[in-house]
Amino acid sequence: MKHRLKTIMHSSRLKDWAPFSFLIACAISTLLLLSSSSCSSTTRSVVVPPQVEGAHYVGNQKCEDCHAEITRQFPGSVHSRFFKEDESYHGVSGCESCHGAGSKHIQAGGGKNVFIHNPGKDPQPCLECHQEKHAEFSLPQHHPVLEGQMNCVDCHDPHGRDIFKQPGGLGLARQDQQCAQCHREQTRSFVFVHEGMQDGCTTCHQPHGSIHDKMLTQRDSNLCLRCHSQMQFDPSQVLVGKVDHSAFLSMGTCWTAGCHTAVHGSMVNPRLLY
Ligand code: HEC
Ligand code: HEC
Ligand code: HEC
Ligand code: HEC
Ligand code: HEC
Ligand code: HEC
Ligand code: HEC
Repeated sequence: MKHRLKTIMHSSRLKDWAPFSFLIACAISTLLLLSSSSCSSTTRSVVVPPQVEGAHYVGNQKCEDCHAEITRQFPGSVHSRFFKEDESYHGVSGCESCHGAGSKHIQAGGGKNVFIHNPGKDPQPCLECHQEKHAEFSLPQHHPVLEGQMNCVDCHDPHGRDIFKQPGGLGLARQDQQCAQCHREQTRSFVFVHEGMQDGCTTCHQPHGSIHDKMLTQRDSNLCLRCHSQMQFDPSQVLVGKVDHSAFLSMGTCWTAGCHTAVHGSMVNPRLLY
């Protein structure tokens, strides 16, 4: 990483770097972590870029010979925004930033597990740059990515335009389809639909991890009240959905206390009760 940072710093003018501030910040924070690890007892692991022993960077064009489709798709990915067909960019942005240096893979004629990394099996290359995701997946409630039970690519498409698998227009519906693969109970069609679902699962859930139960964005009734709060004329009264909730709100959250337990939608009750 140190070496890579040096190469890119030398080879480009500073003003070119505005769009890459994130990348630089991540490279620098890695350096800081490296240099501070000797004198502090930080438990945060130092992220190692994908290494292929004895190989050097060759650039995206070389990959195109055998992986034409992926290479054609790649310019649509956010990860191509900071890529240039220039030697100094190969290791930090193109195919090889995620897959490792490719020369030995190519010499060997390619192949699965042949001198190449596949972050679909091990997300470490992603975490190299997205270090804060490591922290998110370490929160008390999280998707078991670091445990190896699932991967970033269950929700993100690394190559195409589709980094969230939700380009433009119908985007959020497609993002939820991604969740639907594994969570059928919450994504099936309901007789009484909760309109709060329309903006997608991330209205209420942190997709990576959260400190709250069920990976919720908020732990209490404020989760619901940000859409359901109503003007109060009498301060002793809390009106929600035209019903006085003053006595209910002290009984627990909206979805516990035996109330709106069918928060994703209900087959039997328009008020989302079971
Ligand atoms: C942002 C990181 C990233 C970049 C950049 C990237 N890839 Fe990938 N690549 C992945 C991940 C993750 C997988 C695993 C996909 C899966 O399992 O669905 C993968 C899988 C592959 C595979 C295996 C076949 C497949 O689709 O599963 C090939 C071949 C490949 N990438 C080639 C390339 C080429 C060529 C480029 C450059 C044009 C590139 N990759 C750029 C992350 C990346
Ligand atoms: C000479 C042809 C050739 C070239 C050039 C080539 N590959 Fe491959 N690669 C293959 C073959 C064949 C496979 C195995 C079949 C497949 O997965 O598509 C493969 C597989 C892969 C895989 C999947 C590995 C796995 O273990 O799942 C990745 C990732 C990959 N290549 C990346 C790259 C990258 C990045 C480049 C450019 C630096 C590149 N390849 C250049 C032929 C090539
Ligand atoms: C070499 C560093 C690097 C690697 C490796 C990398 N990323 Fe990224 N990624 C970035 C940068 C920088 C951006 C921001 C691009 C932009 O906004 O222009 C980004 C953007 C993203 C975004 C979209 C964020 C947004 O706000 O639009 C997602 C999702 C993402 N990366 C996932 C992944 C996954 C999954 C992997 C591994 C397969 C991965 N990244 C590997 C540097 C990297
Ligand atoms: C369970 C599905 C899921 C998994 C697994 C997942 N993501 Fe995400 N990720 C999302 C969703 C959904 C969003 C959009 C969040 C939003 O709209 O608030 C997102 C957003 C992002 C972003 C951009 C916004 C941000 O929060 O910074 C990055 C970068 C990212 N993910 C990287 C990763 C990486 C790296 C991995 C694997 C280590 C990963 N994600 C695994 C669903 C997932
Ligand atoms: C590849 C399968 C998969 C995908 C895709 C997926 N999840 Fe999950 N999800 C899991 C697994 C596995 C768990 C952990 C279950 C456990 O620990 O019992 C989980 C747990 C959860 C939990 C916490 C459940 C609990 O009981 O604490 C929520 C909420 C959740 N996922 C929401 C989402 C959302 C939102 C998306 C889409 C952005 C999504 N998931 C995409 C597999 C997936
Ligand atoms: C993103 C905004 C949003 C969030 C967050 C939200 N809702 Fe809703 N909810 C709606 C909309 C819009 C409707 C339909 C219009 C209405 O009845 O207010 C609705 C309807 C309902 C209804 C049916 C009301 C009736 O009288 O038919 C109940 C019950 C409900 N929501 C409960 C909840 C609960 C519980 C939560 C928190 C877990 C929640 N909502 C979070 C937007 C939201
Ligand atoms: C309006 C807020 C809201 C939205 C939107 C929402 N959820 Fe939830 N979700 C909750 C609440 C509150 C709970 C906890 C109550 C419960 O266990 O059912 C929960 C629980 C869950 C659980 C754990 C269920 C269990 O029994 O342990 C999963 C999985 C889940 N949600 C997935 C999803 C998915 C997938 C989406 C998008 C299709 C989604 N949620 C959208 C509020 C929401």
